[in-house]
Amino acid sequence: MKTKVQMRKIYFDNAATSQMRDEVIDAMAEAMKVCYGNPSSTHAFGREAKSKIEACRKDIAKQLNVSPGEIIFTSGGTEADNMVLKCAVNDLGVKRIITSKIEHHAVLHTVQSLERCSGVSVEYVNIKAHGQIDLEHLEALLTASGDKTLVSLMHINNEIGNKLDLKKVSELCDAYHALLHSDTVQSVGHFQMDLQECPLDFLAVSAHKFHGPKGVGFAYINKKHKLASLIVGGQQERGHRAGTENVAGIVGLHTAFNLAYKNLKEEGDYIKGLKQYFIRKLEENIEGIVFNGLCKDPDQSTYTVINVSLPISEAKAGLLLFQLDLKGIACSQGSACQSGSQQGSFVLNEIYGPEKIKTPSLRFSLSHYNTKDEIDYTVEVLSAFVGSEKVMV
Ligand SMILES: Cc1ncc(COP(=O)(O)O)c(C=O)c1O
Repeated sequence: MKTKVQMRKIYFDNAATSQMRDEVIDAMAEAMKVCYGNPSSTHAFGREAKSKIEACRKDIAKQLNVSPGEIIFTSGGTEADNMVLKCAVNDLGVKRIITSKIEHHAVLHTVQSLERCSGVSVEYVNIKAHGQIDLEHLEALLTASGDKTLVSLMHINNEIGNKLDLKKVSELCDAYHALLHSDTVQSVGHFQMDLQECPLDFLAVSAHKFHGPKGVGFAYINKKHKLASLIVGGQQERGHRAGTENVAGIVGLHTAFNLAYKNLKEEGDYIKGLKQYFIRKLEENIEGIVFNGLCKDPDQSTYTVINVSLPISEAKAGLLLFQLDLKGIACSQGSACQSGSQQGSFVLNEIYGPEKIKTPSLRFSLSHYNTKDEIDYTVEVLSAFVGSEKVMV
């Protein structure tokens, strides 16, 4: 009798979304079973749901060293980015936004829509050779105009993993009286954040990037700023965000957040070790591989992301993800010329130019669920694929 061979399933796409922890699922299931009252209702069921949310808010605020009232739960990172950017323009009189061309679309497209519809002026800070934000240029832009300015720069770039020196940016913004928003979707849950030590006006967070549920996140809004609600309706979230609260989602976010910080050192060290091992294996086995951004530098990049360009032809590039998928390996293709159409990564295009994106790139993003054995298998599959036909990058 033939036995079916189980295909391996290897998940290296944690920057896209991450596997929920069992404890998160259990906490959410419990909240859905028990805590089903509407938090706006004044009866016991409602009060229980409301107090659950407030306990989550308080704990999250404590970890970030801010006040609970400064945490506004949202449907995720995209909404938090939209909320901050749009409300800063509408309610705080921001006339100019400084950002970069390698932000996530949640910021980039919001800023572009504000430029079109609200008349705000947008300036882009220069990007250096490997995707670093040019802080001297940022300072020059800050000095160039007296208009009320908001700077929006992400902490960790989701494609290449570059890490911004947020403290320096915070000091610059303070010196030039500019507001500062940071999309910290790829860093909260992965890095310690103390917002008294590194003051920001706003930040955006998403639970599904640190083993929490999708569709929930939060914005931090410094209490100095009075923003109206982007989504109008009821008075939920102290009038900052209308709509019945996602109680189970918030409980899941809170559980994932707490576990992320409780295990930060142990899991972080483990993932750092995996990343170094992965880099070494790739270098040893794939001649001509190129590491994009600063992902090889542990001080200037996150410990979770590796972005590489592979020495294979454009013709073969379209098959790459498909082949990896067939072998049970999930990762992201940052750059690909699929079916003859140039669908390259806008981030790599912006940093390295259009020639670069003709060679396919892959983003591997790691979590504590990954193992060295998975890395060995992935490198074996990849080097066999690359080895069957090579061109130099
Ligand atoms: C840097 C960054 N910002 C924003 C988002 C959007 O977050 P969400 O999926 O919660 O809307 C993502 C998700 O891919 C991201 O990586």
